[in-house]
Amino acid sequence: MQKNNLRRLLRTVEALSDLGPEMTAEREFPQTARAMVSALLQAGGAREAVLFTFSDKPSLLTSIAAEGFALMPEPAVIPLLPKHVHALTSARGPIALHSGSYDVFLSANGNVAPELFKCIAPLKVAGKLVGLVALGRREGDALYEDDELDALELLCNYVALTVNNHALSQTLAQRVGENLRLLASLHGFYDTALEAFAAAIDVKHVNIHGHSLRVGRYAGAIGEAMGMDPADVAALRSAGYLHDIGKVAVDKRLFGKPTALDPDEFREMADHTVVGHQIVSGVQFPWPRIPEIVRWHHERGDGSGYPDGLVMEDVPMPVRIIGLADTFDAMTSQRPYREPMSVGGTLSEIVHLAPQKFDPNAVQGLLVQIRRDAVGSSRTPFLADRTAVNIAPTDIDQLAANLQHKLSHGRLYLT
Ligand SMILES: [Fe+2]
Repeated sequence: MQKNNLRRLLRTVEALSDLGPEMTAEREFPQTARAMVSALLQAGGAREAVLFTFSDKPSLLTSIAAEGFALMPEPAVIPLLPKHVHALTSARGPIALHSGSYDVFLSANGNVAPELFKCIAPLKVAGKLVGLVALGRREGDALYEDDELDALELLCNYVALTVNNHALSQTLAQRVGENLRLLASLHGFYDTALEAFAAAIDVKHVNIHGHSLRVGRYAGAIGEAMGMDPADVAALRSAGYLHDIGKVAVDKRLFGKPTALDPDEFREMADHTVVGHQIVSGVQFPWPRIPEIVRWHHERGDGSGYPDGLVMEDVPMPVRIIGLADTFDAMTSQRPYREPMSVGGTLSEIVHLAPQKFDPNAVQGLLVQIRRDAVGSSRTPFLADRTAVNIAPTDIDQLAANLQHKLSHGRLYLT
């Protein structure tokens, strides 16, 4: 018996370690769902398994992946009555089913007969039903015993979180996408409407309040200093407002974390580029470059960025400008784990990292705008009243000269 237990435990640990990379990998959810079903089969020693998500109003189980069943509709759908939802929500862990218990947990009104299932495990997050795992027959039609139920329970905690995360990001992304489309049709995307949107993106944590608005303003001003025409400047401003829209799907907790993010958390945060791209791709903007700006604003020219690891030639100029404005604002802002950097310190760091990470022309544009602030010649100050300009115009000129020198120095080697 002990040997069996050990084997079961090993099998579950094995399934979990297989599943770890699956659950955090940036891949399509159906693929992750299939991997979870395989792991569940293994942990429960089953031949047949199906994974359902649960949706409310009307209460419905919908299958997202299945393995082993000879006849399983795609999707299998099981409507639930309130008594079923109640029974599944109050169940403590997986349940081996018998002829008298089907009706307690499942209705027969769906397109699949509950009798196909021999064991079910409700998936819950914070006491709420988010899905269901149903296992069919085992090898040799053996019964599901405590060992299998324990192993299943362990695995189901992870599966529940993954299913729930996916459902959350789906609905959030959908809702935000719909709101944006609505705005586009109602207002023709006036600056003010987008400004309101920008403010809503940054409500997640006090440290990022106003970030999107500032990035939009900075980017527009950099474009203007580079001599771009007003339409392109307006596009840059709007792109800045929306660049972090994918953050609506990121766990709020990560924004206030006092230490650096661990690799899984970093991946979740980094995904805001891809999620944002999905959201804005469904919207007709007057400026066609918005989706690529949202996707690529963390690309860094030397290939060190994400999500696609692009090099400078592949990064379009508007994306480079947003990337610079984003970095400038992040460095001059408070973070849970560090104090804001001064404007002077930030600028010399940025010049230090150009041209490898930042476009030198965009950096010159940034220097021009801050110089205007420093000599008091801007009608609308670039930095507004947020950050003191603690750098003298002559120091800015020195930075501009350094940047120029780096470039011509580089060119000497190139020719
Ligand atoms: Fe971002």
